[in-house]
Amino acid sequence: MKLVVLISGRGSNLKAISQAFKEGKIEGKISLVISNKKDAHGLEVAREYGIPSEFHDPSIFETREEYDRHLVERIKKENPDLVVLAGYMRILSDYFIESFEGKLINIHPSLTPAFTGLKAQKQAIQYGAKFSGCTVHFVTKELDAGPVIIQAVVPVRPEDTEETLSDKILQYEHRVYPQAIKWISEGRIKIKGRQVIVEGARYGTLPVNPALEDF
Ligand code: GRF
Repeated sequence: MKLVVLISGRGSNLKAISQAFKEGKIEGKISLVISNKKDAHGLEVAREYGIPSEFHDPSIFETREEYDRHLVERIKKENPDLVVLAGYMRILSDYFIESFEGKLINIHPSLTPAFTGLKAQKQAIQYGAKFSGCTVHFVTKELDAGPVIIQAVVPVRPEDTEETLSDKILQYEHRVYPQAIKWISEGRIKIKGRQVIVEGARYGTLPVNPALEDF
């Protein structure tokens, strides 16, 4: 299993995935980390784990598609089994998405299809949702709306702020992302239309809403 990971920032999901490879929980390796931001902390994470990393500057390209064509060419040299978006904060061109169809995954900090786009945790708070969470999904042309591989549910408490909710969701992101990658690496994922089926997965029971006192 060979991965290329795209980042723009902190890189905590990159770290969780790298750690899972390091501990042998997933077989294979991340062969390259690419950032579109020069000062992304995730580049340091890559160095810490001895993973080759590169900054590719979007500002020297005239259009989104030109940059993406350049990235696709670079990524294809790695011949990855999977391209993983981990906090990559750039809209992808159709060309990029088509180039890696079925091999491109993302993590989003909400239970999709709710609260897609930017600041998903703030959207959940402002909406007054009682649950939110995170979603690992295949990337399709529709933003944050591809077939769902795994979701984790996190209760939203009345005292939660954007920051506390983001922190709580992040703890689950660090668990579900390596899990999804492991499933894919083991060839256990089958896609039927929008449905992603994980062969042999054990499904737990739903968490009970703590506000449900009388029923
Ligand atoms: C995460 O919340 C992820 O769900 C979203 O961007 C954030 C990236 O965080 N897509 P990090 O860079 O992995 O720490």
